[in-house]
Amino acid sequence: MKYSLLQKDPNSSARAGEITTDHGKIETPIFMPVGTVATVKGVHQRELREDINPDIILGNTYHLYLRPGMDILERAGGLHKFMGWDRNILTDSGGYQVYSLSGTRKIKEEGVNFKSHIDGSSHFFSPESVMEVQRTIGADIIMAFDECTPYPCDYGYAKNSMHMTHRWLDRCISHLEKVPVKYGYGQAFFPIVQGSTYKDLRKQSAEYIAEAGAVGNAIGGLSVGEPAEELYAMSEIVCDILPEDKPRYLMGVGTPINILENIALGVDMFDCVMPTRNARNGMLFTAEGTINIKNKKWEDDFSPLDDMGITWVDKEYSKAYLRHLFAANEYLGKQIATIHNLGFYLWLTRQAREHILAGDFRSWKDNMVKQMDKRL
Ligand code: GUN
Repeated sequence: MKYSLLQKDPNSSARAGEITTDHGKIETPIFMPVGTVATVKGVHQRELREDINPDIILGNTYHLYLRPGMDILERAGGLHKFMGWDRNILTDSGGYQVYSLSGTRKIKEEGVNFKSHIDGSSHFFSPESVMEVQRTIGADIIMAFDECTPYPCDYGYAKNSMHMTHRWLDRCISHLEKVPVKYGYGQAFFPIVQGSTYKDLRKQSAEYIAEAGAVGNAIGGLSVGEPAEELYAMSEIVCDILPEDKPRYLMGVGTPINILENIALGVDMFDCVMPTRNARNGMLFTAEGTINIKNKKWEDDFSPLDDMGITWVDKEYSKAYLRHLFAANEYLGKQIATIHNLGFYLWLTRQAREHILAGDFRSWKDNMVKQMDKRL
């Protein structure tokens, strides 16, 4: 994997860059649609490619390990072939899902014992086993196994957990060297900064992660319920320490406003279930603010879904029609809303990139943040 930093914004820490892997280019800043179980929920791969057009999507180790399982993925020739996606994929390590989804889990130095959310069966993840699982899934970017601390988290727990995440990182790195890639293309490995909402811990963790010398770095443990100001403060501390010549990935963030503010702090990559999950609940993100399409006020609004017309669904369907589909609980409503939201998120990060390259990102961002902070 190669990263080129193309341009820095003169009035913020925003950057435009380009990552190149064996599955092609990723123009940054980028939003990566979440495809947890080998599907971006409700969207055909063809729609994803042609209408939404991301350079990279995300998969989840935890889910894919449980279903379809490693045997099927290996026999398919890896996740790209299995799901029919020939662009980039990043897999999260399970270091978040195991805590948020699995009912009972026990964290020890050796690893995590957990029960499947599907059938209650018992499993064990360690830094070593998760590296092997990610080799078998075969994503282009794979993540370190970490502990994502909850919010709020007491200082002692956050500190011990951060040190364990660092020890786990060392184990991930030494094990990865022993397990070759499986499908003939490279896999880049990203470590993850933790440290909860404590400035000194974040600083310490960012220094440890920077020292590991990986090709890219991630920031975890945020967007877990903390106020936006704390998210930005942590992101700023960490971005100032992580190396400038490597991409920075902020995990699980966030709203369109969170994304723009973090781009301004120097983050390059984002993922979040918000555009897809909220779409399925009838929430549409637009440049003018958010719409709850289930509201009665849209019942006879025959104007296009979104005047900006970023994706074809915005021009093709009216607000009244989409409201009707949600009222009737039709599948198509969720599909249309998902294409709209992902199209908007990808448009937003592309626009951010263009404004960084043009040198006016800061004023564009301030204006967009004001504009989007509304409920329509
Ligand atoms: N997704 C969102 N936050 C996190 C985190 O802290 N760790 C991991 N592995 N994934 C995440």
